[in-house]
Amino acid sequence: MFKSKLCQLLNIKYPILQGGMAWVATAELAAAVSNAGGLGLIGAGFMPPDVLRKEIQKTKTLTNKVFGVNIMLMSPFVKEVMQVVIDERVSVITTGAGNPGEFIPALKEIGTKIIPVVASVALAKRLVRIGVDAIIAEGQESGGHIGEISTMSLIPQIVDAVNIPVIAAGGIADSRGFVAALALGAQGVQIGTRFVASLECIAHENYKAAILKARDRSTVVTGIATGHPVRIIANKFTREYEAMEKRGASAEELDAMGTGRLRIAAREGDVDNGSVMMGQICGMITDIKSVNDIIQDIIGGIPKVLRGINETI
Ligand SMILES: Cc1cc2nc3c(=O)[nH]c(=O)nc-3n(C[C@H](O)[C@H](O)[C@H](O)COP(=O)(O)O)c2cc1C
Repeated sequence: MFKSKLCQLLNIKYPILQGGMAWVATAELAAAVSNAGGLGLIGAGFMPPDVLRKEIQKTKTLTNKVFGVNIMLMSPFVKEVMQVVIDERVSVITTGAGNPGEFIPALKEIGTKIIPVVASVALAKRLVRIGVDAIIAEGQESGGHIGEISTMSLIPQIVDAVNIPVIAAGGIADSRGFVAALALGAQGVQIGTRFVASLECIAHENYKAAILKARDRSTVVTGIATGHPVRIIANKFTREYEAMEKRGASAEELDAMGTGRLRIAAREGDVDNGSVMMGQICGMITDIKSVNDIIQDIIGGIPKVLRGINETI
């Protein structure tokens, strides 16, 4: 067990969380990560409550380790899915897009740990005041919905601003990224893109192939105009979306254009017309491995990274 307070808080062996990614982080991926010593999470996205309940129950059949659920607070079913999480006694929830405040008392009562994803110091401080257990600080190099600040700049500023464990997300896929995050003061990491390119992830093979093919500059950010920036691979869909933005399309038209696109990419394998979310670290990912190998490679590579640092300073 790592000595970090985060491992004790979450009852995990390695301080590695798997991003709760809509449409790709299902029971299979969550259980594989938890079985390998990290914290696996189901990405609830906009899942209806009955679908989430089945996914949680399936995860329980695949692992006896702790796992969590990522809840998008903008989901139309947010109240119902929170109730499912409570009924099923899920150990950890991570939340995206907002403030989970109204749900905290009920979750605390059953001992569920609440870890919001944030992209600014101000939001981190506000959420600490309402009693969350840890913070995931996510840099703009991440895949999916993002903020404006890079991981390198965001992590130390949030670490300095709060007195609870900080987990770094965005651009981490190997031992070097892991050690760098800890050097910035984080107690653990959250990894998204690297886990999509795993054997256990149910994402369509075309999606995984797109990650392997991608280079450092392959992603773009859409949705800046509507206030919902998303990092995805540049493709036919992003070119059409950008053309609509230039034509001055309304926020409603742009939102409608983006709806359902992650599903067609992740589940149907349409990587031309779909939203192929991935982080900038995609350029470094060149193979599909088991989740256990991904985690063991990160953990096993730490001494070499530390030796390299010692030789340099
Ligand atoms: C395909 C995909 C879907 C994602 N969906 C969500 C989501 O539903 N909720 C969320 O909080 N974060 C989501 N994220 C962000 C991840 O949870 C994670 O924080 C991010 O991928 C970390 O950056 P990395 O991809 O550079 O590792 C998604 C990321 C990807 C790549």
